[in-house]
Amino acid sequence: MGYAEIYRGWKADPEGFWRKAAEAIDWIEPSRAVLDSSRAPLYGWFADGVCNTCFNAVDRHVLAGHGERTAIIHDSPITGTKSEISYGELRERVARLAGALAERGVGKGDRVVIYMPMVPEALVAMLACARLGAVHSVVFGGFAAPELAVRIDDARPKALIAASCGLEPGRVVPYKPMVDAAIDLAQSKPEFCVILQRDQARADLVAGRDHEWEAFQEGAVPADCVPVGGMDPLYILYTSGTTGAPKGVVRPNGGHMVALAWTMKNIYGVEAGDVFWSASDVGWVVGHSYICYGPLIAGATTIVFEGKPVGTPDAGTFWRVIAEHGVKSFFTAPTAFRAIKREDPEAKLVGDYDLSTLQYLFLAGERADPDTIEWAQRHLKVPVIDHWWQTETGWAIAANPAGIELLPVKLGSPTVPMPGYDVQILNEAGEPLPTGQLGAVAIRLPLPPGTLSTLWNAEARFVKSYLTTYPGYYETGDAGIIDADGYVSIMARTDDVINVAGHRLSTGAMEEVLASHPDVAECAVIGVADELKGQLPMGFICLNRGCERDHDEIIRECVKLVRERIGPVAAFKAAVVVDRLPKTRSGKILRGVMGRIADGQEYKAPATIDDPAILGEISESLAQIGYPHAH
Ligand code: COA
Ligand code: AMP
Repeated sequence: MGYAEIYRGWKADPEGFWRKAAEAIDWIEPSRAVLDSSRAPLYGWFADGVCNTCFNAVDRHVLAGHGERTAIIHDSPITGTKSEISYGELRERVARLAGALAERGVGKGDRVVIYMPMVPEALVAMLACARLGAVHSVVFGGFAAPELAVRIDDARPKALIAASCGLEPGRVVPYKPMVDAAIDLAQSKPEFCVILQRDQARADLVAGRDHEWEAFQEGAVPADCVPVGGMDPLYILYTSGTTGAPKGVVRPNGGHMVALAWTMKNIYGVEAGDVFWSASDVGWVVGHSYICYGPLIAGATTIVFEGKPVGTPDAGTFWRVIAEHGVKSFFTAPTAFRAIKREDPEAKLVGDYDLSTLQYLFLAGERADPDTIEWAQRHLKVPVIDHWWQTETGWAIAANPAGIELLPVKLGSPTVPMPGYDVQILNEAGEPLPTGQLGAVAIRLPLPPGTLSTLWNAEARFVKSYLTTYPGYYETGDAGIIDADGYVSIMARTDDVINVAGHRLSTGAMEEVLASHPDVAECAVIGVADELKGQLPMGFICLNRGCERDHDEIIRECVKLVRERIGPVAAFKAAVVVDRLPKTRSGKILRGVMGRIADGQEYKAPATIDDPAILGEISESLAQIGYPHAH
């Protein structure tokens, strides 16, 4: 069956489609109802099913006789180490950690915050929580202590699991001082911490609260998988919204397994025993779905890679990993390829490796620019597949389903909606727009299995953020087009979220930090185009009247403040002092126009602008710091 037939089949009988897909999962009790619409517009999938995600990701493969198969390959060009963990060994390690956590009182529904770099123990920790029915919340290592504290206060974890440090090229990042600072800042204190000591920076432990990873598990009785309901949460993953407060996306157990199992085969073309590599980080949704759960549920081998596309040690590191470990399907962000292309424009290093196992390259996380796609196609000689999704959905909304059939590629389009997603382009009144017109991308409810069920402790915010603007639809926050062949193109965000090197960041959160600087009266942060990272944040700062201080010094302080409060991942390095911000007469800051000026695009002063002369002033201030860049 081809894509069109499968998609039509889903549309004709969505519940039948997902009931069939659910057969790929081992249920303790299968769900009879499949879809629960009783609380629409809130929906539940497999709510009456009983299952365990860790069992499906680990134990069942061992029980089926595949205990010797490699589950995880760890490859760290930063430490120069490589190791492998079989499914059998993974089960032992996960069950032992789960046992130790259970002995300390962690059980079903308790939250556990995980703050770890790209080491296999991060997956062991996630799976141990899943085994107990505990809810993990992984926080990306590039976030600073205050961001970690906000997440601790929202999730109120019983325990925190961290590593002593992360490793960035040429720099050890001690995590433990950030953990300590975050716990100090947080109102809600975890009862205990488990710390994986890494030799590059061993951590001081707080007596009575902190336990060393190995010692903590010594003598622990391995724990069995705890049965959970299909809609019980597996994890919370915080992501950026328009305001500074991150949104805690809740992922239920049942539908998540069903959807991921379907995607591994039908999108990524991966089956048990294949090697799948997603070069992302466990702190992002890609890491949750496709470093940890997806490949393991499929019984495939997953790679945990601690390195960067360039500089660890060179722009050939991706090719080495693919060749050495026999990767079949590879997933990364376009920005990684732009980084490689910049260092090795002719892709000379590709020639040093045998990439014959590689069948597909998948790109997501940001818009894939045609140049990057063509460059990758030319040099890797495999299909390059752009696909579009979000933290909220957990898996691709639109993709080229390579495992079913490869549809013709249209550069700039992540291809077609996947079964489960009825994608529509709407106007401001919420009415579907004709083919080819740009509008808000929305998905007709219900969303499919595997997508978010709610926001943690914030159901009203969930409804307001996603389900209110267009009744009957989920609002993606993206603007786009669907063409006559049904191909989707994603053009931009409709909110103030920006995308920096495939990382989703809130300009609102950065504005809150800048506004806290004592000399700043008012500010705005926008995303400006960047050749490598797609976008970079740029601050516009108005100083308090009478402030005579050196502008460069204030900007340096602002840059430092964002790094300390949000983290290096914000990549906030550019700001400009301006006298006034352009606003509408009702006081709304005209961020879009400022962005166009900074990017050197044509712009029109909106009719509602308060004082058009300000745009000229903004343009002059930007010119002084070299914007727009000449390309
Ligand atoms: N812990 C601590 N610091 C971290 C970190 C972590 N886990 N991850 C990133 N940082 C720091 C970096 O060291 C850097 O700090 P600096 O300002 O001192 O240089 C900053 O955060 C920005 O990091 P990054 O976005 O990785 O930029 P970079 O300039 O180091 O590298 C790329 C640029 C393009 C190579 C890199 O962004 C990349 O590999 N991107 C792929 C993105 C990706 O996989 N996204 C996931 C979605 S699919
Ligand atoms: P995140 O939640 O971090 O995965 O970011 C999701 C957002 O990234 C989406 O809403 C889009 O704005 C953007 N995005 C992700 N993948 C793509 C893609 N393939 N094409 C265009 N934009 C994308």
